[in-house]
Amino acid sequence: MRLHGKTALITGAARGIGLAFAQAYVAEGARVAIADIDIVRAQAAAAEIGVSAVAVQMDVSDQASIDAGVAEAIATLGQIDILINNAAIFSAAPIVDITTADFQRVFDINVAGTLFTMQAVAKHMIERGIKGRIINMASQAGRRGESLVAVYCASKAAVISLTQSAGLNLIQHGINVNAIAPGVVDGEHWDGVDAFFAKYEGKAPGQKKKEVGAAVPFGRMGTADDLTGMAVFLASDDAAYIVAQTYNVDGGNWMS
Ligand SMILES: NC(=O)c1ccc[n+]([C@@H]2O[C@H](COP(=O)([O-])OP(=O)(O)OC[C@H]3O[C@@H](n4cnc5c(N)ncnc54)[C@H](O)[C@@H]3O)[C@@H](O)[C@H]2O)c1
Repeated sequence: MRLHGKTALITGAARGIGLAFAQAYVAEGARVAIADIDIVRAQAAAAEIGVSAVAVQMDVSDQASIDAGVAEAIATLGQIDILINNAAIFSAAPIVDITTADFQRVFDINVAGTLFTMQAVAKHMIERGIKGRIINMASQAGRRGESLVAVYCASKAAVISLTQSAGLNLIQHGINVNAIAPGVVDGEHWDGVDAFFAKYEGKAPGQKKKEVGAAVPFGRMGTADDLTGMAVFLASDDAAYIVAQTYNVDGGNWMS
């Protein structure tokens, strides 16, 4: 029960990695707000977890929606001790096919969404004197560019940079900001990634997943549950002296 009595707001938690974080946090004694643009699925996820979870409608690309979602989470949970900025979208295209609309959408959600949700929750933590934790979801895609993934890679590099700046700025208030950089994690997100590569590299459906899994030093793709240990650790008292870091949890794909 490393998070006993704590409250957490997790964006994009209706499915995938965010949902696994919500389940792990509740198992460690926390109450969680599952914030997602897909409120129907968020409600189903909260109902499955039980009384320690509530669903909150939030579109992290919309400031009014962030403000309303954060206010609702505070009203329901009492306060927010932990924020996980997990909501994101993927996109892929050769440089010559990238559209301004696609770039804008990815940066609105992955970068501005992370920054302004962090800002809204940090204001609340500072106002109440909460020594909080903020965990941003980066990616190995933020560590280096990829031929077909320019916009998503750039957005995740921005998340690593925001984590460093916010970490340095907010620790004076006792708020620790850190990030997790997963590698390749199987689930609905990667079903979409696989479809992009099927389109651009002419691969059969499922082929790209097999290739990236075999290339991981650990020997397989990750699962959402492979990431929960780091998410619990970074929110726990054991991580009190860790500031502005991004941790690779990727089976050995990237070293830094
Ligand atoms: N799956 C991977 O291989 C992988 C690898 C590295 C990093 N990541 C990162 O981990 C995080 C979770 O990934 P996942 O695989 O669970 O993704 P996912 O696509 O399965 O889930 C993302 C969730 O975010 C929600 N969402 C999308 N846009 C939103 C918005 N505007 N406002 C609020 N919610 C929104 C979706 O409804 C969905 O529930 C993301 O930040 C992703 O970039 C994933």
